[in-house]
Amino acid sequence: MRSVVSEHSIGVFDSGVGGLSVLRSLREELPHENFVYVADSGHAPYGERDDGYVVDRSRAITDYLITRHRIKALVIACNTATAAAIHILRRQHPTLPIIGVEPALKPAVAASATHRIGVMATRGTLSSSKYTTLLASLHGQAEFVSQACDGLAHAVEHDDTTKTIALCTHYISQMGPFGTQSGQIDTLVLGCTHYAFAGTHLRTLVGPAVHILNTGEPVAKRTRHVLAACLSQRQDEGSCSFETSGAPAQLQAAVQRWLQLPAPVRDLPK
Ligand code: DGL
Repeated sequence: MRSVVSEHSIGVFDSGVGGLSVLRSLREELPHENFVYVADSGHAPYGERDDGYVVDRSRAITDYLITRHRIKALVIACNTATAAAIHILRRQHPTLPIIGVEPALKPAVAASATHRIGVMATRGTLSSSKYTTLLASLHGQAEFVSQACDGLAHAVEHDDTTKTIALCTHYISQMGPFGTQSGQIDTLVLGCTHYAFAGTHLRTLVGPAVHILNTGEPVAKRTRHVLAACLSQRQDEGSCSFETSGAPAQLQAAVQRWLQLPAPVRDLPK
């Protein structure tokens, strides 16, 4: 049986830079914790791959974080990997607290007055049985317009602003009218952690009155709750380290831009 040491790091992973949006909230909520972030950019995007591929990558990264970093908990900062692999990871590591992310449909129902809710996510997330079950659990409470956004995570991952804006414009127009009138979508759920970094473009497209829901903050609160008994006892700021299976310079630029951290980035060992 593994012992939980409160000073050990919390592992966080995503297919790439998207999970930094979750890490940002985790650092705000848990400033004294140490985090180790793995971006699997060499294998991104996950959202248009089959489940087997995403499960294999999620298992390999989790095993690495446990053996190399002896993490005390894991946050899967990726909707696609959560949908495909969280149940398998929990079965394989029954004593490791594992927190996943899922599209914020329940908070969206609470926020929506028109009861028409847009959901942007990867093809993988939307076709998962986890998503189908989540939708079924809210049957009759709202109408959900689910939009698979092929290519958008890739554009955000590569910081391709022109493509990001073009894809956001296309997918928002596919979903129908946004606004606060009856029949309009008044709440937009970002069901992929990469999309948080397209938030400004999406806000311009849907207008100021539409609620845009991310998952970072609720996941950070949930992590605090799950780890209540083994939070760090230190009083100073915790550390963050970063590893990637892609180009370190790319992750480094994203970390600097989104977290304002000059932290070094290492190659993920092959
Ligand atoms: N950021 C991920 C998610 O939340 C995956 C994006 C991708 O790799 O396709 O779904």
